[in-house]
Amino acid sequence: LAEDVRRVSGLIREVADFPQAGVLFRDLSPLLADAEGFRVVVDAMALHAAEGTDVVVGIESRGFLLGAAVAHKLGLGVVGVRKPGKLPAVAHRVDYDLEYGTAALELPEGTLAPGARALVVDDVLATGGTVEAACALVEYVGAEVSVVSVVMELAALNGRDRLAGRKVRSLLTV
Ligand code: PRP
Ligand code: MG
Repeated sequence: LAEDVRRVSGLIREVADFPQAGVLFRDLSPLLADAEGFRVVVDAMALHAAEGTDVVVGIESRGFLLGAAVAHKLGLGVVGVRKPGKLPAVAHRVDYDLEYGTAALELPEGTLAPGARALVVDDVLATGGTVEAACALVEYVGAEVSVVSVVMELAALNGRDRLAGRKVRSLLTV
């Protein structure tokens, strides 16, 4: 599977200066659009859950695509944590800093039971602000993060350090 991941990772597109000057954006869209690429990535992320998981949390927006597929493969439900203003009933909100600008995520009401073990899924771990916010939402309602699973980790930005105490798994590190 590691060999499969390496092969399909060639489908990830690098876009310079998006969404602002100086940022090299890792665009997984061509990988997700490819049948084999999508299957390999989803299968590999599902293996990250082996340590015990009750539910999958996908982060808007590309974490939705991956999280839903991983949850289905595992036979679990999926929760989408969303950018502000989208949810009719919000359990909690966390504001955070991005590599570019600021943002917030909200957890939908009535989705995570106390004690539930959540696999937190996103496409890219950069500074870690996004995943950290999602983990904080999970933990605020008394659930726990079993594992954080991302496709690509940008090691130079040290996102992993920000997630101290949580298990972090990435398919690719650049
Ligand atoms: C990108 C990416 C991750 C996040 C990583 O999302 O999809 O979610 O940035 O950055 P961080 O580790 O520095 O927080 P973005 O905020 O661009 O939104 P999108 O997924 O909706 O495109
Ligand atoms: Mg994102």
